Amino acid sequence: MLVLGIETSCDETAAAIVEDGRRVLADVVASQILVHAPYGGVVPEVASRQHVATIVPVIQRTVADAGIALGDLDAVAVTCGPGLVGALLVGVETAKSLAFALGKPLVGVNHLAGHLAAIFLGDDEPPPFPHLALLVSGGHSALIRVDEPGKTLLLGATRDDAAGEAFDKVGKLLGLGYPGGVAIDRLAATGNPRAVDLPRALPARDDLDFSFSGLKTAVATRLAKTGVPEGEALADFCASFQTAVVDVLVRKSRRALVREGLAALVVCGGVAANRGLRAALAEAAREDGFGLFIPPPKRCTDNAAMIAAEGSALFLRGKRSGLDLAVDPGLPLSPS
Ligand code: KG4
Ligand code: ZN
Repeated sequence: MLVLGIETSCDETAAAIVEDGRRVLADVVASQILVHAPYGGVVPEVASRQHVATIVPVIQRTVADAGIALGDLDAVAVTCGPGLVGALLVGVETAKSLAFALGKPLVGVNHLAGHLAAIFLGDDEPPPFPHLALLVSGGHSALIRVDEPGKTLLLGATRDDAAGEAFDKVGKLLGLGYPGGVAIDRLAATGNPRAVDLPRALPARDDLDFSFSGLKTAVATRLAKTGVPEGEALADFCASFQTAVVDVLVRKSRRALVREGLAALVVCGGVAANRGLRAALAEAAREDGFGLFIPPPKRCTDNAAMIAAEGSALFLRGKRSGLDLAVDPGLPLSPS
């Protein structure tokens, strides 16, 4: 079974071909980071135009890399939400046209379900069901109970900024450009995480929600007084900030595992690429004895292989979308 995945929900134009839901034959991601960097963040209109310019060449390269003919495909899977509406429209209309021209089935995929499915790609042992998923990206921070493929329960979510958003906003305050997450991760590697005392949001509360806006404000207030640090002090600041975010994510994940009686944690979304988070979770897993499953960094950030993986699973379960498939910028993971 060969499934083409197409992903254009934000600022990556991506296509991938996955065989039998697990084996990645081709995986192409055209990042728009350089296009948006001068604006300090993703400009939706610019993203849409860039997707229009890039999507067909990206698909051509994907098909060439996989060494298949378009006619060999069994289905075309595409992200239909959540995300930027104009960006989503480019992928969805391209996928529909392709499915129509080839006479192949179309499968609409939820971007968040795609992130959850990334862990099933490749040869590593997949996580057992049920498991807990920590989804941390630019738009979402959530703890999700995954009982079986497609059956999810939202246990906690962010009340304000998503984890990746906090990284990006603080990166901007520190003059590190866009996106801040990667730059903070790199600088934090050489910094002292105890150098700057920053607040941990909701430390005493017994819920599973996140809040990162207080931390962001604490950073802004501090920088307004002290100015932006440089050299070693900048590395220390990044390490301290990263640890403040990671502490909260690890603490809430542990709490959720215990509360739900789960023994496996899947971590996904762009922030799952963060080395500090990966190391802290590995230590927690050793201490508490739970199974930890994190995709390689390039499958944590947005990509189309994860969309093809989820599309394959949906296709096998009989899901087909009509050629009237609409985009939904606010598509929830599981309808309540
Ligand atoms: O999953 P993703 O690629 O896109 C969304 O669906 O949002 O996540 C992007 C987010 C950005 O906020 C970016 O700064 C963050 O993931 N990110 C990281 C790292 N790599 C990407 N944050 C911290 N450390 C990283 N290494
Ligand atoms: Zn994403």
